[in-house]
Amino acid sequence: MTARKYEMSNPFNPDNDTAYQAWREYKLEHYPERVEDLIVEVNDPRQLTKAEHEAIQNRCRKTNMAIYASSTGSDPDKAIPRSLGKQFGLTELDYNMGADDDGVTSLQVVEGKWRSGYIPYTNRPIHWHTDGYYNLPERQIHGLLLHCVSAAASGGENALLDHEIAYIHLRDKNPEYIRALMAPDAMTIPPNNENGEQLRPARSGPVFSILEDGNLHMRYTARTRSIEWSPDPLTQAAVKTLETFLESSSPYIYRATLQPGQGLISNNVLHDRSGFDDDSEHTRQLYRLRYYQRIKV
Ligand SMILES: [Fe+2]
Repeated sequence: MTARKYEMSNPFNPDNDTAYQAWREYKLEHYPERVEDLIVEVNDPRQLTKAEHEAIQNRCRKTNMAIYASSTGSDPDKAIPRSLGKQFGLTELDYNMGADDDGVTSLQVVEGKWRSGYIPYTNRPIHWHTDGYYNLPERQIHGLLLHCVSAAASGGENALLDHEIAYIHLRDKNPEYIRALMAPDAMTIPPNNENGEQLRPARSGPVFSILEDGNLHMRYTARTRSIEWSPDPLTQAAVKTLETFLESSSPYIYRATLQPGQGLISNNVLHDRSGFDDDSEHTRQLYRLRYYQRIKV
């Protein structure tokens, strides 16, 4: 908690309607409604030209995300997404369980290892979430990069929603929803126990919070198991409203199936993944890089 969080000029402060309305108008003006508007063709993600860099930055400024489409195809070099991230100030990787020594996680179907118990390593659908919602407050994920090495034979589509748009939807419905979701006990992740060993203690925290730099952060999962929502009626109503919005056909919900050489760079926006099928020639492989920083804009 810092004084900054309660700064009246911050549009995310639920007490300041004037700042919110002004920011909202600016935010929604010319807001892209097609996923194509997020795509930036780049030659070499390791070394962007000034124009490519600017094009990605502009999209991230507006929608908190961009999709780059490069010619690196199925080149499995992890330096590709790492160097791309670096050019946007993304350097502090989260060394989460499942990540390799270099902090890059290779997401693909893994049979028989501990990983097969975790949905990201299967071909099953993954519900809406932001990454690392179960992390400690000081290890929250603010930047997320996904780089596609190879696509599945079918499926594996991501739905994407700027978390600031989710905020606007909820605040417009009822500003009290924002207050409820900013409460420190809004959502609780029960402990992660495996074979009698506690891998992670229970963690409570807000859905929406205002960062030191004034930006909005969101923690969320649509999972119904392994999550406890506050029984407060306003929290319950807010969560229902958000769920309905995420299942709607809002033009702000983008859908993309990343192809080899393509990737998503984002400020950890809301996303899901549809189920997919691999075959002998098409095995889906994505690199996931989670950062403690936001994209430098
Ligand atoms: Fe994710």
